[in-house]
Amino acid sequence: MRSYATRHVAVHAAELETPAIRDIERAAVELPINGNTPDVRQSVLNKARTDPASSVSTTTAPSIPARPGTNSATSSSNSKLQFGKTLGTIPYMPNVLVTGCSSGIGFATALELARAGHHVFATMRHPERAPQLAHTAASEKLSIKILPLDVDSDESVNACFQSIAEPIDVLVNNAGIEVHGSVEELPLSSMIAVMNTNCFGAVRCIKAVLPQMRERQSGCIVNVSSIAGRIANSPLGAYSASKFALEAFCEALAGEVKPFNIRVALIEPGVQDTRMARDISTGPKSIYPQVERFSAFIRAVLADPVSPDASATAIRHVIESGTWQLRHLPGPNAAPFVGWRASMTDEEWVDWNALGDDDWYEAVQRDFGLDARRS
Ligand SMILES: NC(=O)c1ccc[n+]([C@@H]2O[C@H](COP(=O)([O-])OP(=O)(O)OC[C@H]3O[C@@H](n4cnc5c(N)ncnc54)[C@H](OP(=O)(O)O)[C@@H]3O)[C@@H](O)[C@H]2O)c1
Repeated sequence: MRSYATRHVAVHAAELETPAIRDIERAAVELPINGNTPDVRQSVLNKARTDPASSVSTTTAPSIPARPGTNSATSSSNSKLQFGKTLGTIPYMPNVLVTGCSSGIGFATALELARAGHHVFATMRHPERAPQLAHTAASEKLSIKILPLDVDSDESVNACFQSIAEPIDVLVNNAGIEVHGSVEELPLSSMIAVMNTNCFGAVRCIKAVLPQMRERQSGCIVNVSSIAGRIANSPLGAYSASKFALEAFCEALAGEVKPFNIRVALIEPGVQDTRMARDISTGPKSIYPQVERFSAFIRAVLADPVSPDASATAIRHVIESGTWQLRHLPGPNAAPFVGWRASMTDEEWVDWNALGDDDWYEAVQRDFGLDARRS
């Protein structure tokens, strides 16, 4: 076994424009292979925790190239329009539709945007079961309109978007579910369900809003993906597949609609303290050890919880800044996790996940300073 050997993997640095994040990635990709050094990975995590500049990465908007056959004056004036900023003397606050607002990141995003003055259509499957957002909106006199929307259903998506008379300037695809379990044990119906909600649910909403954004030559589509859209491990195979698929759709879409001055962004949270993360922290019984020990790992990460506000802040930043950056890693643990994975070859990654329990818990202790056995 090689010790103290380092690898230099040139990854992600180009897309991670904020120097702090680029530094984190560089540090993380120069890690020792067998980890016999002092805990470099932990120091990478600690650096991210204490460096707020590393929590959101962004670039400023380039000027929009005029699309052949379109009015270049319209395109370029739209390109200068930054939501939330003053346009002349009039502050331009867009109408934003957010999916999955009953809890977690969607709930936090609806409040973050409305408190900043945006007009929010906060959608959820069962508004009657989640009255808290309506109560907060009423007590703070926020511009939040709550509408029913189930992203799994064509009928529900059509009915919701058709019921809104105002233009929708920004769509935030946040609604999501998680399923976890080994490929052998997880029912195919669960795999299809997670793909339907996390990928096709977002695509349904995108298709519903694109015609109006294209006609207006203006819009912004923010999609809450995950670091699981870049990293796949057991027992999150089906969940990761849904997020990888969402990322592929969005990456292709971004180039398709940029000529129409429509921005597309992917928000990739790490582990944030929501109902979903808490659910993953309790594993079903499995014949595969990865299921239980990954739950233990999530429990250990959640012992130092990151608020979903970190994603809400990043989403607001994407909307207001006019950035054309595709991928964003909100919160203190997203960039380090992505950098840590990037420090391994694919085969080393497979081997890490295939370790026996004792070696795996030891590796987690070494790489993250987390005692997952006790969590
Ligand atoms: N928390 C994390 O660590 C983390 C990390 C990476 C990515 N994410 C992503 O963040 C997003 C939000 O998750 P969260 O962590 O905030 O978890 P959460 O608190 O469980 O929120 C999920 C939201 O999605 C809604 N939803 C589920 N299926 C829906 C459907 N068919 N139609 C409409 N809404 C639906 C839920 O509504 P109901 O109340 O009706 O179930 C809920 O409002 C998800 O896309 C998730 O994959 C989370």
